[in-house]
Amino acid sequence: MSQPPNELRFILNDEDIVLTELKATETLLDYLRLTKRLRGSKEGCAEGDCGACTVLVGRMSGDELVYETVNACICFVGMLHGTHVVTIEHLSPLGGPLHPVQQAMVDYHGSQCGFCTPGIVMSLYGLWLAEPNPSVPQIETALQGNLCRCTGYAPIIKAGLAMSSYADVSADALNAACCRMPNSPMPFSARPISASSSARSKGAPSAVPWISTNLPEPVMTKLASVSASTSSR
Ligand code: FES
Ligand code: FES
Repeated sequence: MSQPPNELRFILNDEDIVLTELKATETLLDYLRLTKRLRGSKEGCAEGDCGACTVLVGRMSGDELVYETVNACICFVGMLHGTHVVTIEHLSPLGGPLHPVQQAMVDYHGSQCGFCTPGIVMSLYGLWLAEPNPSVPQIETALQGNLCRCTGYAPIIKAGLAMSSYADVSADALNAACCRMPNSPMPFSARPISASSSARSKGAPSAVPWISTNLPEPVMTKLASVSASTSSR
C-alpha cells in the first residue's frame, strides 16, 4: 500500500511519529522540548556549538542502521524522515536505575551544574555503543562538541573510561528492548567505523558513529518500510 504524500515518519525513542504538518524551520530541539515535552535535551547556545542538545540519530545505510550524535538545535525535523531519534530520556526509565553511562558520571563526579550533562552523556553513550572500551583520545574526540564550564574534563574522561565496567553493551536498552530480535540472545553487533574527521564540526556527526550490522529488527523493519515507500513515490 502506498504511503500518502507529504507525510514525515520517524521513530522517537520507542514512539512512532507521523507528521502531516510541519513548519520548515522547526528544529528537532524545539520539537522535543516544546511539542513532546522531552526536556532532558538542553538548549545552551542554540547554534550548534555547545553540545547540550546532543541526541543520537540512526539512519539506514544499506542493510545497516548507523547511529550518530547530532546537535538537535541545528537539525530540522524535516530532515528526520526514516530515522530513529534517541534522546537522553531513553537511557533510564523515570524513577528507574541510572544507565551505566549516567552512573559512571555520578560516581566519578562528572557533573556540577548539570546543564551540559545530558549532552555529554549522549556523546559518551554513542561512543560506548561504538567502542565499549574507549581510549582517552577516543573519549576526547567524542566530547569535542560538548562544552562544560564548571566540572572540568578530567572527571568526565574518568567516567568515560569506567562506563564499560558497569554493564555490557549488549544489555543496553537499544539492544535489549527496542531492538531485540526474537529468540536472539545477542541481538546487536556493533562496530566502530573510521573517522573522516578528528573533530565534530558544527552540525556534523560525531567521529565515531555506531553501526548495527544485523538488527535492530523492529526499528530496522519500520525504517526500511519508510525508505521503500519513499523511494516508490
Ligand atoms: S544548544 Fe548548543 S549545540 Fe545545541
Ligand atoms: S556541569 Fe556545569 S557546564 Fe558542565
